[in-house]
Amino acid sequence: MTFDRSIKIAPSILAADFANFGAECAAVEAQGADWVHVDVMDGHFVPNITFGPATCKAIRPHIKGVMDVHLMIAPVDSYIDAFADAGADVITAHIEAGPHIHRTLQAIRGAGAKAGVALNPGTPAESIQHLLDLTDLVCVMTVNPGFGGQKFIDMGAKIKTLRAMIGDRPIHIEIDGGVDPMTAPIVASAGADVLVAGSAVFKGGSVDNPAPYGENIKAIREAAQGVYV
Ligand code: DX5
Ligand code: ZN
Repeated sequence: MTFDRSIKIAPSILAADFANFGAECAAVEAQGADWVHVDVMDGHFVPNITFGPATCKAIRPHIKGVMDVHLMIAPVDSYIDAFADAGADVITAHIEAGPHIHRTLQAIRGAGAKAGVALNPGTPAESIQHLLDLTDLVCVMTVNPGFGGQKFIDMGAKIKTLRAMIGDRPIHIEIDGGVDPMTAPIVASAGADVLVAGSAVFKGGSVDNPAPYGENIKAIREAAQGVYV
């Protein structure tokens, strides 16, 4: 994985056909996705359950680029090796998921993956101040995690604070929740570079009719880049 601050669109397969993840991943990549975002939920840290490392491992061969695994689970540490073995390029854990996020980020890097830290809407930017040297990605939640299709919560001020804290460090700012062509400019202008989008990418398309995925990705990217066509 090379680092840059260009806008990257990361479709969340939470909005894909759960019976056809492999083909859905291939379809969004063919339609222009930069990363594929994989949401793991445990029914404990968040009030919803998706899937675990075995499913991630099964999906992996169908993704050519970056597999971005968002862990909404507690505890985290005992599962890190399993997600790294499944082929995750980025593993993101929530700062709210336990008392030892510093240890968690060390363990993610130790397992050979890029280390992400996610912040719920109620968690301040300053909470990661002492973690910057251990962090490859900060995920700013713009919904309370657990479900796709929720209303965007404006975290523009938090993103700007994080962008200033990060400075020249090679740390991505990822936005997750309610991203669409209307909200993308807010987060991109504040300093985000990775935009996760579930409903706004998968709406209107399917593996048999993938062109809408491409149109949706293009619309979000152009809105984020300030290009209105
Ligand atoms: C929310 C998940 C998100 C979600 C985004 O708990 O972490 O990745 O799938 O979905 P949309 O884009 O529909 O808000
Ligand atoms: Zn997510």
